Order: sequence, then structure tokens, then C-alpha cells
Amino acid sequence: MSAAIELRGVWHMYPGSGRWALRDVSLEVAEGRILAVVGPNGSGKTTLLKIAGTLYRPTRGTLRLWGSDFWAVDGDERLRLRRLVVYVHEKPVLVRGTALHNVAYGLLLRGAPPEEALSRARRVLERMGAGELAGRERGQLSAGEAQLISILRAVAAEPRVLLLDEPTAHLDLEKRRRLASLIRELRGRGMGVVVATHDYLLARSIADEVVVVEEGRLKARGPPGEVLEV
Ligand SMILES: Nc1ncnc2c1ncn2[C@@H]1O[C@H](COP(=O)(O)OP(=O)(O)OP(=O)(O)O)[C@@H](O)[C@H]1O
Ligand SMILES: [Mg+2]
Repeated sequence: MSAAIELRGVWHMYPGSGRWALRDVSLEVAEGRILAVVGPNGSGKTTLLKIAGTLYRPTRGTLRLWGSDFWAVDGDERLRLRRLVVYVHEKPVLVRGTALHNVAYGLLLRGAPPEEALSRARRVLERMGAGELAGRERGQLSAGEAQLISILRAVAAEPRVLLLDEPTAHLDLEKRRRLASLIRELRGRGMGVVVATHDYLLARSIADEVVVVEEGRLKARGPPGEVLEV
């Protein structure tokens, strides 16, 4: 079976930057597994996730989604594939309206009936112990609450692979625990999850596999116990 997401020989240079943000990166992401991406600031984690999530077209190399060469297929096929993968920015991006509306938003965009979208959104919020945020407007959320809502919007949309960029940056300990348990539950339902993080505790506790990125290259790859020294 082909990987859900496969990068082959990916190089990336931001226009005008004059330096490679990614150098010859090859990586597969499978459904039903959790991959943690770690490495210093500026090493290329976000770039890697954004390329995997189709937000950027790599300067060189290929991105395959379920076996299709994403940047070579036609627009309809791209649209279909793009819906299977969701990237969540490290800075929360919320639309106008309540937290509940935001969590339901991904489903509404995908054409789900509003009642169904809202009830699923409510369940997801409650599952995270954040039911009381439902009626809160975008501007009335703390940094951590906003981050949680932006993650839950992606979760509610039920992609086949979820790409989370620094998901615990603003979360308290209790929310981190709940998020770790939610991510494990998603894996149990067959979702693939990729987490770029500086939170080694999180990587250690949830990842099936860890890759270390340094200066745009994959430096190491393996089970967390081997790759993440204490
Ligand atoms: N929009 C951009 N334009 C030019 N250079 C960029 C841009 N975004 C990132 N870079 C550069 O690309 C390299 C990789 O950045 P990236 O954001 O992928 O790192 P990161 O590993 O996610 O870092 P952090 O841990 O700080 O989030 C860095 O050298 C960064 O300065
Ligand atoms: Mg980053």
C-alpha cells in the first residue's frame, strides 16, 4: 500500500531568501500513526508541514498524496486530495463568530448540514472539556483557548491526516494531557497525525516515530525512546 503522504527529494527555498529551508527531504506519513517532527528554531519543521499540507509547492522534489503526484494532477483531483489533509497553523486563525461556529466551520465548508456540523462541533468541544467556550466570540478567547479552538476545527473536519504545528505552545498542562489523549484516540480511528513540536514530553508520550530536522535536513528518525535523549 502506498503512503498517505510521501515527500521525495524535497528542496525548498523561499523566494528571495537565497538559502534552502529544506534540503533533500524524503519522508512518508501513514494513516493510523503519529509522527513527531522536532528540531531547533528555523530548522524547517513548519516548512515541511506546509509542503506536506499542500500550502507550498516545493522548489524541487515531489509530493505524493495517496500515490498521486499532487502538483502534477488536474485541479479537480487536487481539490479532492487537499480535503484529506488539514494543516493547523501555530498561530490560531479564527473566523468571525463563536467558538462553536469556528469548530463547525471546517465541516460547513465541506458542505455538512449546519445542524449536524454544530452538533459534532459541540461533541468535540465537550470531549476536550471546553464545552463552556461554545458561545464565546472570537475576540473573547485567551491565547490557549483560541489555539484549542483552531485545533478542534481541524479535528471536527475529520481529515485522513492532521498536521499540527506547535499545538501545545499556549496550552496548560491539563489541556496538553487532554490533547495527547485526543490525538491517540484519532490514531485509533485511523487518522494519521504529524506534530511539529518543541514539547518533548508530548512527542515522547504520543509519537510512534520521531524525525529530527536540522538546517533543513532530516538528521535522525526512529522511535521516541531512541531519538529523543533525555
Ligand atoms: N516566509 C518565509 N520567507 C523566507 N524565509 C522563511 C519564511 N518562512 C521561514 N523561512 C526560513 O526558513 C527556514 C525554516 O523555517 P521554518 O519556519 O520552517 O522553521 P521551524 O523549524 O518551523 O522553526 P520554529 O521552531 O521557530 O517554528 C528558516 O531559516 C526561516 O528563517
Ligand atoms: Mg515552526
